Amino acid sequence: MSAPEKSPFIVVRGLHKKLGSQEILRGIDLTVLKGETLMLIGPSGEGKTVLMKHFIGLMRPDQGEITVDGVNVVGLREREFAPVRKKVGVLFQGGALFDNMTVEGNVAFPLIEAGVRDYQEIRQRVDEALELVELSEHKTKLPVNLSGGMRKRCGIARAIVGRADCILYDEPNSGLDPIVSDVIDQMIVRLQKRYGITSVVVTHDMKSVFKIANRVAFLKRGVIHFLGTPEELRQSPDEEVQNFIEGRSDVTG
Ligand SMILES: Nc1ncnc2c1ncn2[C@@H]1O[C@H](COP(=O)(O)OP(=O)(O)O)[C@@H](O)[C@H]1O
Ligand SMILES: [Mg+2]
Repeated sequence: MSAPEKSPFIVVRGLHKKLGSQEILRGIDLTVLKGETLMLIGPSGEGKTVLMKHFIGLMRPDQGEITVDGVNVVGLREREFAPVRKKVGVLFQGGALFDNMTVEGNVAFPLIEAGVRDYQEIRQRVDEALELVELSEHKTKLPVNLSGGMRKRCGIARAIVGRADCILYDEPNSGLDPIVSDVIDQMIVRLQKRYGITSVVVTHDMKSVFKIANRVAFLKRGVIHFLGTPEELRQSPDEEVQNFIEGRSDVTG
């Protein structure tokens, strides 16, 4: 495996976001490096999903700077986000597949939406993406006929079909058994090795963190409370970090 490049892909500085009366993000500083798998952990409801939504313009900051592959995305107009969304694919919680479309149709959708009309090209790229997630044999099935793990893989294929440089995964392992969860982890690693894809993965699965993360960011109270390698996480003297990774309840919350 080639060592991840060290140049930044996503840079966040002093990001603040209030939703309703709640101050969710209170000065996030975070750099995601090109080619790395950065795993984002932290208690539920602390703003992990909210943070990722800012990367692709689904939420806008109240304050702060965000650059994606060198482009300052704060202040971009909605239609100016198209090139950013082409570079950054997303696998949302639940997968969000269209129930009335086959696996192929779901995977082709982002290409068609992006204006690709060459049928041959669509077919080729969809086939390539499905092969990568090992779903080629199931391409004519409807989502209702897929297992939970297969639905996630279909979502991954859809996230990469536009040749994204980066994929954001929101809890890709939630609701999956350990074996299927491991398959998803392997997919993330395969995309990193084969295409040098940058991944940001929100997860509660510490096993998965210690298995595939290059670095880990721990979000708490609206800031990145800890950032480091899995080994540094394990060795961290910080009590809140240890409580979280050991799954202990934390009264300091
Ligand atoms: N669109 C929204 N409007 C108002 N509040 C929201 C919205 N999205 C998320 N929140 C609130 O922001 C907080 C962080 O949510 P979220 O980012 O989903 O947490 P998590 O870390 O579990 O992903 C939660 O309190 C949630 O209720
Ligand atoms: Mg979330």
